[in-house]
Amino acid sequence: MNAGILGLGKYLPERVLTNAELEKMVDTSDEWIRTRTGIEERRIASDDIQSSHMATMAAEEAIRDAGLTANDIDMILVATITPDYGFPSVASMVQHNIGARHIPAMDVSAACAGFIYGAVTAKQFVESGVCKHVLVIGVEKLSKITDYTDRNTCVLFGDAAGAAVIGPVSDGKGILSFELGTDGSGLKHLFQDGDYIYMNGREVFKFAVRQMGESSLNVIEKANLQKEDVDYFIPHQANMRIMESARQRLGVPVEKMAYTVNKYGNTSSSTIPIALYEAVKEGKINDDDVIVMVGFGGGLSWGALTLRWGK
Ligand code: UT7
Repeated sequence: MNAGILGLGKYLPERVLTNAELEKMVDTSDEWIRTRTGIEERRIASDDIQSSHMATMAAEEAIRDAGLTANDIDMILVATITPDYGFPSVASMVQHNIGARHIPAMDVSAACAGFIYGAVTAKQFVESGVCKHVLVIGVEKLSKITDYTDRNTCVLFGDAAGAAVIGPVSDGKGILSFELGTDGSGLKHLFQDGDYIYMNGREVFKFAVRQMGESSLNVIEKANLQKEDVDYFIPHQANMRIMESARQRLGVPVEKMAYTVNKYGNTSSSTIPIALYEAVKEGKINDDDVIVMVGFGGGLSWGALTLRWGK
């Protein structure tokens, strides 16, 4: 039995924070942000919207999109580094909010690689026959751990949620291969220092450029595919320059790469499901297309997978 994606959902807060507004908050410029990162604006959740709210909205849409109800969900995995509380998990709040049965629910902490970690975990439960439908959500309220006096980080991050229902699909479709990895010696380059995110941008940049390319090539090989077989590439949306270097390494044409960082900035675990959602809804992904998704981030951790689209 193969596990694939049956439905998708997303939630984006209404409030848009533009580069022009950031120019008034820190010593930066629209030009610097655009040319160094590709980001034009990002979304910021209001005080009364926490990760659990955003996750619930995205989850409900994904369940509808899969043609299911909350009753059909057998497990909930929420990838997040910005839970509402230290405990309980966001997943347990989503279980209650959507009215699911008393199923297993837990959070996965793998920063920007979190959605890939969640999807790969879901695959194990589906393919072993333990669960039929696993709800995987990437959600972040990064604005609550962003220091809006630190120009090195505050221009980068945003808030959002993306969700997928993972379940059985027909032969040859679904998640074909994956790679997950961690190098904890890189912790010092990206972590939450007290209340806020600390990041050594240059070090993370070097790691990301190397890892995104390598992991993508590894999962293509593991799936017995060639670079030319890739129909759509969904890199974690952190920085247009990092994405561009990975794209060139794979030789994927520019129109075949997801690009949402301009609109939403870096929303950590939610960038990949949101980018996938938008590509599918815009008709950029068709039945039987081979998709490569790759994420990297704090840990340092990374994850990649290949997926053949369709049920
Ligand atoms: O989800 C995973 C987490 N993070 C990432 O993927 C981030 C990876 N890193 C990056 O995307 C890039 O390193 C950044 C966008 C963060 C920075 O770009 P960079 O080209 O690596 O710039 P830099 O760190 O080498 O800094 C160049 C200059 C510095 O000034 P000096 O020391 O040369 O005088 C910075 O202080 O740019 C300065 N700078 C800024 N200037 C205007 C840093 N942030 C800003 C800013 N506005 N917002």
